[in-house]
Amino acid sequence: VVARLKGVSRGSLHVAVATTANYFITHLLAAFHREFPEVAINLSVTNRQGLLQQLQENRIDMVVMGEPPAESSLVGEAFMENPLVVIAPPDHPLTQRKRIPLKTIAREPFVVREEGSGTRAAMTRFARRHQIQITPAIVMTSNEAIKQAVSAGLGLGLVSAHTLELDLYAKRLQILNVAHFPIVRHWYIVHREGKRLSPAADAFRSFLVDNADSVWPAAAEAQA
Ligand code: PGA
Repeated sequence: VVARLKGVSRGSLHVAVATTANYFITHLLAAFHREFPEVAINLSVTNRQGLLQQLQENRIDMVVMGEPPAESSLVGEAFMENPLVVIAPPDHPLTQRKRIPLKTIAREPFVVREEGSGTRAAMTRFARRHQIQITPAIVMTSNEAIKQAVSAGLGLGLVSAHTLELDLYAKRLQILNVAHFPIVRHWYIVHREGKRLSPAADAFRSFLVDNADSVWPAAAEAQA
């Protein structure tokens, strides 16, 4: 792969990633940058709805997001799992329990992402499929804000495990053992159908697909 990519000496790369992908994509960008130091990198961070809009307006080479909508004229390739989990502060009584039933969880207040977030959409689909009601007590547009709020005791949270590396390590938050969790989604690298990718953009796409698991092993661990 590296030999094929060596032709990419310069150029620029405009990537937008989901607010949730922000946590691991920087590790991959760093590795890509070591390989291709002359490629200028531009990264923007927004939610799923914002990403779809940037693609639609052709303002971006590629985006990293959850599964693209089936009916869209977008091409996407899955490259890594994205497990969604329920989080609580370490002193919450539910942290002591195993296989917590969904109906127990549904009685708790939740701090959740905004409409337009892929995490929020996955939560809504999951609740519908399992016929439970998850009550959004508080809505926040940032994973960091949700984690702070949960840690402060405002409710349980539902976030991607990829946002949690440091918080688990620092024992600020704990993943609850809930029946039917994690909700397993996937990260996709997505571009418009028929889009002519620059050599730099194409190199990044291949790099991501080939290196996702090795560059950030924590992502693979979180899936286990
Ligand atoms: P987010 O994630 O919009 O919840 O940040 C993107 C996605 O899951 O598609």
